[in-house]
Amino acid sequence: MAALEVKMNLNNFDVKIFLNDYWQKKPMVIRNAFNDPFWLEPDDLAGLSLEEDAESRLIVQDKNNWKLENGPFDAERFSSLPEFDWTLLVQGVDQWVPEIKEILTAFDFLPSWRLDDIMVSYAPTGGTVSQHYDFYDVFLIQGEGSRKWKVGGLCGSNSELVPNMPVRILKEFEAKLEVTLNPGDMLYVPSTHSHLGVSVENSLTYSVGFRSPSIRDIVDGIATVSLETLMEDERYEDCVESLKATAGEIPKAAIAQVKDMLSNALLNDDAISAWFGKYVTELKYSDQAIEAYDSDCWVDRIKGGESIYRSSTSRFAYMKRNGCTLYVDGQSYKVTLPLAEQLSDHDNVDSEVIGCLISDPDNHSTIEQLLACGSLHFDEVCD
Ligand code: SIN
Ligand code: CO
Repeated sequence: MAALEVKMNLNNFDVKIFLNDYWQKKPMVIRNAFNDPFWLEPDDLAGLSLEEDAESRLIVQDKNNWKLENGPFDAERFSSLPEFDWTLLVQGVDQWVPEIKEILTAFDFLPSWRLDDIMVSYAPTGGTVSQHYDFYDVFLIQGEGSRKWKVGGLCGSNSELVPNMPVRILKEFEAKLEVTLNPGDMLYVPSTHSHLGVSVENSLTYSVGFRSPSIRDIVDGIATVSLETLMEDERYEDCVESLKATAGEIPKAAIAQVKDMLSNALLNDDAISAWFGKYVTELKYSDQAIEAYDSDCWVDRIKGGESIYRSSTSRFAYMKRNGCTLYVDGQSYKVTLPLAEQLSDHDNVDSEVIGCLISDPDNHSTIEQLLACGSLHFDEVCD
């Protein structure tokens, strides 16, 4: 049964101050942000790491010798681990455990389509993944136990890493902030800020990560979309200015014309919007299977008061442009704005509202398709 999401609130946290002064600028410590952060036991995490579909890693440190092992693991692996100095990390735990997905309701002051996933790590005393930086804004929530964090300055692709290591370790690291997190505390680390967390005692950390598309991804995506429609017959043409040059000179006017051709081909608002909506809602793992549900008699089921749920892996977002387009898992659908808001903005989907909105043919067809592909589903299968 899909559980109803319960809205979580952050304690000691002023959204306005955070967004103005800290978000994507500087780290912030929030003491007792969560009241009861004991969502998982270390054994639950170890159990997840045995699963074929869960992305898991084990990082073991022996002095300056680092070892990285990728899951899925055998249960026996955990009995042969040393007492100290290792970390187990499992990505995408929000899609496996409904209680973990509920943590996201505390972050609804940020765009949901910027979310990457919730990674959970378990480390006994001394366990660390070493000093590094990520291209993610991350909220590190302390579950059981405690972990000591140090946060340094901004890094980038030019920051030197220790060579020949299986994990990314920054060569240089100077801490500007040091804090020990206890259960319920949270540390926000902006993207590309160096950081280092070391487990003080057996501890679980929940990392809520927000991703940003890189300029490389954007150029690659937009160029790929443009190439689908660009024809060979659109060509460079000499303009009067460029013909004034000597036979061997490539004049500035020629470059200006190439630039014009490029911007005409690439800077099309409709194409950029369509690509972006699909890109940011793509499933995190390309092989992520969404289970398709038997969606026969779906209208009767909705009208009969049955609840509808979003698949835990699905991503919903919408854009108000030439009407309204809903983006789900990398696909686009024409819908009315109230349906897009209902599916993308609320913690829970209100089936009664959906029942009214499907009188619109676009909405009707969208809900039918989303049920057929499993991005939406009923709790129980129709018989
Ligand atoms: C950890 O959970 O120890 C690592 C998380 C991070 O540094 O991003
Ligand atoms: Co990190």
